[in-house]
Order: sequence, then structure tokens, then C-alpha cells
Amino acid sequence: MDILIDQDTLATRITSLGREIREAHGEDASIVAICVLKGSVLFFADLVRAIGGDVRLEFLGVSSYEGTSSTGEVRITHDLRTEIRGRHVVVVEDIVDTGLTLSFLLKALRVRDPASLTVAALLDKPSKRTVDVHADHVGFSIDDHFVIGYGLDLDEKYRNLPFVAIYRPGVG
Ligand code: IMP
Repeated sequence: MDILIDQDTLATRITSLGREIREAHGEDASIVAICVLKGSVLFFADLVRAIGGDVRLEFLGVSSYEGTSSTGEVRITHDLRTEIRGRHVVVVEDIVDTGLTLSFLLKALRVRDPASLTVAALLDKPSKRTVDVHADHVGFSIDDHFVIGYGLDLDEKYRNLPFVAIYRPGVG
């Protein structure tokens, strides 16, 4: 595998993303950060520390319906444990590819009436987008590669790599 984003580069960028998110909300704002399982777990853990201040952690499990991922039908497998009405919510995603998952999530969360709803994504693959959706805070915009590591998997493998790498079939 080829390392695309190494540990130091991840750490530096996430520190500034955290500052950016804190500044956008104000020093005293209470933020509900939503970790979209499982891909954003590692990014989430680093990002919430970089945001600092009052940040509440919530987890949302989603999975694509079998065989219909291209239609963007997504199912919530683990729901939030708290109400987000009137709260400042930041959805933390690993990667925005076609945008179908994010589009579904935003619709599902918007109806719960948060005070604000923004998105932080570690990676963005703009060339793959099929729906008009974007993250407000993006770590890195990347070309159309299948990437693994730092939470991202291939059949549940490689999530624990501390860097982001380009997956090369038949290697590693
Ligand atoms: P979307 O609905 O097409 O935007 O896809 C979003 C989800 O697909 C992400 O949250 C990832 O879990 C997965 N995904 C998309 N691209 C990659 C990749 O390059 N590596 C690993 N997972 C990916």
C-alpha cells in the first residue's frame, strides 16, 4: 500500500480543523459531535480533542441496505442517545464519496430541529459526487482512490492503521 496521508500530516490538519470548528461556533458554545460509525471513530477521537471546550459525544450507526448502496438507502442501526433539538450539531464523517450517505444523514437529522447542523469530513472525493451535498469542514480533498486506514476499511480490515493509504489489490 502507498501512504497517502501520514500521521504527522493528519495530526496537523486535524488540529486546525478543530480550531476552525470551535471558532465557527464560538468559545462558549456547547457542541454535540456525532460520530458516524464505524469509519470516523479514529478521526472523531482526535477531532473532539482538537475542538476543545464543551463538546458532547454521540454515536450514530448506519449501514447501506444490502445491494442498494448506490440508491443511497441507508438504515440507522444505532440511534443517538440524546435529543438534538436546539443544539449545535457537528456530524463527523470519514469520507464523502457519492454523498448519498451524508445526504441521507442530513435529512434524518434536520427533522430533529437542531439549532445548527454542520459537517466535518476527514476526506472528500469530489469527483465521485452524485448528489449535491458538501461538508463544511474538510480535512483533505483527494482524487478517486480507494483508501484505507485511520478508520477506513476494506471488508472491516485496516481500520487500525495510523495513516491513510491507497489500497492496491494484491499488495499487503
Ligand atoms: P457515499 O455514500 O458514497 O458518500 O459513501 C460514504 C461511505 O462509503 C463512507 O462513509 C465510507 O464508509 C465508504 N467509502 C467511500 N469511499 C471509501 C474509500 O475509499 N475507502 C473506504 N471506505 C469508503
